[in-house]
Amino acid sequence: MKTAICYFSGTGNGFDLAIKLNENITDSSIFYIPNMDINLLNKYERIVIISPVYCFGVPIIIKQFLQNLSNYKNKTFYGILHFGGFSGNAKYYLKTIFDKNNLSCNNIYTLQMPENYTLSFVPPEKYIDKQLKKSRITIELIAKKIIVNNKGKIKKNLFSFCDRIHEINASKWATMSKEYFNVTDKCNKCGLCIKICPTKNIEMDNENIIFKENCLACLACYHRCPTCSINYKDKTYNKKRYVNPNVDLNKME
Ligand SMILES: Cc1cc2nc3c(=O)[nH]c(=O)nc-3n(C[C@H](O)[C@H](O)[C@H](O)COP(=O)(O)O)c2cc1C
Repeated sequence: MKTAICYFSGTGNGFDLAIKLNENITDSSIFYIPNMDINLLNKYERIVIISPVYCFGVPIIIKQFLQNLSNYKNKTFYGILHFGGFSGNAKYYLKTIFDKNNLSCNNIYTLQMPENYTLSFVPPEKYIDKQLKKSRITIELIAKKIIVNNKGKIKKNLFSFCDRIHEINASKWATMSKEYFNVTDKCNKCGLCIKICPTKNIEMDNENIIFKENCLACLACYHRCPTCSINYKDKTYNKKRYVNPNVDLNKME
């Protein structure tokens, strides 16, 4: 059964999981959602969506992607959600998006990865190592389940009130970088932030970095800036950035 592994990732955790899953499922291919041609999905019977949890829900790019798959109602879908600390009701939240788009989802799995929403709190290094090691085992188990077409009932949990919190926060993300990010004079105008932004939300104008109004809040620019010049308000000047150490982020395209 041919499997398409479609992922979105800001700081590489999702890319890491996509690579590991691909190694464990024969006849599978990886696609980076922001750049992919959805017509290619025609050739696949099974489609796995790998998404980070964003405020107990999923990034807008995942919602939009699933909305565009109306030609693929005959395919078998799986979801894999990864999160830094607490996923609320995200599994059910994602299931409702599959349902709304009439896509048949066999199961959704969740697993913990290092936290990348580190604007106010940075977890100790030792947790990052531990979580990455554990995630390797978990993703292998998930692959085994997907291979045998495992099905599961996804139910609302006690934290369904988090869906509302998600909706409120998600409505503010598009302008998050424009309103709250600033660029210090350490910026050497290398242009990496412009190149990697999944929604082309960053531009250079007269040697100044400009954020527009289509931010996903993925934090790719914040974490991956080689000179740590992109900051959130005045809260992150001395904060360590995070990128998944297992992957080469330049290959995420
Ligand atoms: C905007 C945003 C919101 C997030 N919200 C949550 C959350 O509600 N719960 C959680 O446990 N982790 C949350 N995280 C952390 C990410 O889900 C987690 O670190 C993920 O593995 C990052 O994946 P990536 O490296 O592929 O981008 C959030 C991260 C971002 C950028």
